[in-house]
Amino acid sequence: MKITIIGTGYVGLVTGACLAELGNDVFCLDVDKSKIDILNNGGIPIHEPGLEEIVARNRAAGRIRFSTDIEASVAHGDVQFIAVGTPPDEDGSADLKYVLAAARNIGQYMTGFKVVVDKSTVPVGTADRVSAALREELTARQSHADFSVVSNPEFLKEGAAVEDFMRPDRIVIGCDSSAQGDKARSMMKKLYAPFNRNHERTFWMDVRSAEFTKYAANAMLATRISFMNELANLADHVGADIEAVRHGIGSDPRIGHSFLYAGCGYGGSCFPKDVQALERTAQDYGLNLLILNAVEAVNARQKQILGNKILKRFDNKLVGKHFAIWGLAFKPNTDDMRAASSRVLLGELLRSGATVAVYDPVSMAEARRVFELDFYDAPELLDAIRYASSPMDALDQADALAIVTEWKAFRSPDFDQLKARLKQPVIFDGRNLFDPTVMNELGIEYHGIGRSVLTHQ
Ligand code: NAD
Ligand code: UDX
Repeated sequence: MKITIIGTGYVGLVTGACLAELGNDVFCLDVDKSKIDILNNGGIPIHEPGLEEIVARNRAAGRIRFSTDIEASVAHGDVQFIAVGTPPDEDGSADLKYVLAAARNIGQYMTGFKVVVDKSTVPVGTADRVSAALREELTARQSHADFSVVSNPEFLKEGAAVEDFMRPDRIVIGCDSSAQGDKARSMMKKLYAPFNRNHERTFWMDVRSAEFTKYAANAMLATRISFMNELANLADHVGADIEAVRHGIGSDPRIGHSFLYAGCGYGGSCFPKDVQALERTAQDYGLNLLILNAVEAVNARQKQILGNKILKRFDNKLVGKHFAIWGLAFKPNTDDMRAASSRVLLGELLRSGATVAVYDPVSMAEARRVFELDFYDAPELLDAIRYASSPMDALDQADALAIVTEWKAFRSPDFDQLKARLKQPVIFDGRNLFDPTVMNELGIEYHGIGRSVLTHQ
């Protein structure tokens, strides 16, 4: 099938590459010429395991191309996926300006019938706004071209995006019940047929339910994490080990093991903004979602937990102190720094007068970029950051190590070397990577999340 993907970011590029891999003829559009240039020069603008190979293979086979040419992109695809960003507006609602601009571009050039797919995460009711934008453009140029807007939210996780896309646990598609909707449904069915070969993974529903499903999923997962973080903080007080508790409750199939890891807060481009946007949608209808308000507040507090533990341990005196941070990306296997907990910790340490050495296996360049934005009001603090060349290099003369992201490379360090390089053997572990009893045996002062019962402090 002939497919256009509008927006060549994490979701658009993965969607385009995977649909090309399945034999479709894919046109990827982006307004960011620098991204398109990287792709056309054989590079890849993001770090996502397995993606580079798929893009290269399909480019060589002529099944995927990258361009900034809007008119050509509209002409190409019978199915037009909108996969542009929906960042939070000032009030927390999803900013739809990129989605509606993409819709208008389609309306300006389309001829014949197009299926327009909302792949971006968009609030309930957005398909109607996309339809209205398309219709306005068609009316303006007296075109009789026809379309159907479909909701097909994306559930991939960064760092496992290709695997998630290729082996989805569900495909959610919302179509309306008009004749155009029926036509769109049969085209979407054909497009996704390869995923449904062994068993049906597609959930067909109305458009609004599909839009809602995406927010419901992210809000549910964020809720689990914030709930576990609250329990972990309580566990520290009552003398229980949150890891034992996690196993104990996760074995109940009604609860399950996934997304029960306490830590230093959730980040990324989805949970923080989607929780906020759902709260905002509710407010538009005069409702106050009490649980989600709390989920967000707990997460904001949890992102400060490492900084607070460090401040407490050093009697609020961080001037002249030096710390190492392992892990800057919001999770492993990505270079994405959006809403990363490391940014909160770094801010807290630097603004308290400490200096910091940071290390991340892939997001060092992205970190430099975002830290310049974070400290635009105090650029002198940027001089207090050293970008280390390895995990061990980051440790030299540090008063403590803080771990923010659970990269595999951090899981089995040479503890003798670690102890020798640190000024004193102190670890603040925001992802509970290590066994506190082993840390005790090694003579390392260890501060995990919800595990203080197992450490001598
Ligand atoms: P991104 O910022 O990585 O990419 C968006 C791209 O769209 C950018 O390259 C931008 O230049 C481009 N763009 C903006 N306006 C455009 C236009 N009019 N025409 C063509 N290109 C345009 O964003 P992302 O992380 O891929 O997220 C995209 C959407 O998917 C968001 O709604 C997000 O919530 C949702 N989503 C993201 C993830 C994820 O893990 N990142 C997962 C599921 C859903
Ligand atoms: C999330 C959803 O999982 C995915 O389905 C959706 O399409 C996009 O948003 P992503 O943001 O890529 O994916 O990463 P995810 O693995 O969900 O992690 C999000 C954040 O939660 C990370 O900061 C991670 O460290 C944190 N997390 C995750 C926890 O703190 N504890 C957990 O148990 C799981």
